[in-house]
Amino acid sequence: MKLCVALDLPTLEENISLAKELKTFDIWLKVGFRSYIRDSRTIIDKLKEINPNFKIFLDLKLYDIPNTMADAAQEISELGIDMFNIHASSGKKAMQTVMDRLSKKEKRPLVLAVTALTSFDDQSFHEIYGTDIKTKASQFAKDAYESGIDGVVCSAFESSMIKTNTSKNFLTLTPGIRPFGEDAGDQKRVATITIAKKELVDFIVVGRPIYQSNNPKSIVERILSEI
Ligand code: C5P
Repeated sequence: MKLCVALDLPTLEENISLAKELKTFDIWLKVGFRSYIRDSRTIIDKLKEINPNFKIFLDLKLYDIPNTMADAAQEISELGIDMFNIHASSGKKAMQTVMDRLSKKEKRPLVLAVTALTSFDDQSFHEIYGTDIKTKASQFAKDAYESGIDGVVCSAFESSMIKTNTSKNFLTLTPGIRPFGEDAGDQKRVATITIAKKELVDFIVVGRPIYQSNNPKSIVERILSEI
């Protein structure tokens, strides 16, 4: 299991200083909406300068018509990042079109599909999708697997079920991790590292518990030792 630290801080400088503090660790860094919209590829280049071995997950959750998504995926694949994601609810055609486009490249990033956001509880999910999270997440994961996607973003509670329904090599990445019982914030389906391990999760994403702490380095050390 790998730790992926969410760089969701308000400024480029703060994100860079967090990355510098964590530069000796074997971790992934997640660049999301906030940072990428503000700093575009500057943040990616700066992170690679700090430690060329940092792996970067670009969390932009693409959702559009198939051709537009494939165009965007192609541009993303030129950025030098290691993994990005799209929404499984964009449909099999869109997922297949993205993977077809990327297959023409000599080297491509990993692609994950988002099943259900971890900020949904069953009731709020039902209002949009008309079914419960487990049923839909499982269907989305199957669609993604059949479309040639590398794995899914899901909650820790769906990870092992998804692997059983697809393949044990189908990757799962789970946000909403509160390693030591920290405040959940807007996350509804939070899990600990012990649960994530039991559920065979491949990547845990941790944001606020690390960057809001007075000592992010020691939290990362503790997480890595638990992993
Ligand atoms: O601060 P926290 O640990 O809750 O951060 C979780 C990160 O994972 C945020 O950057 C959020 O955008 C992202 N994320 C999520 N749920 C998903 C996909 C991504 O919380 N399904």
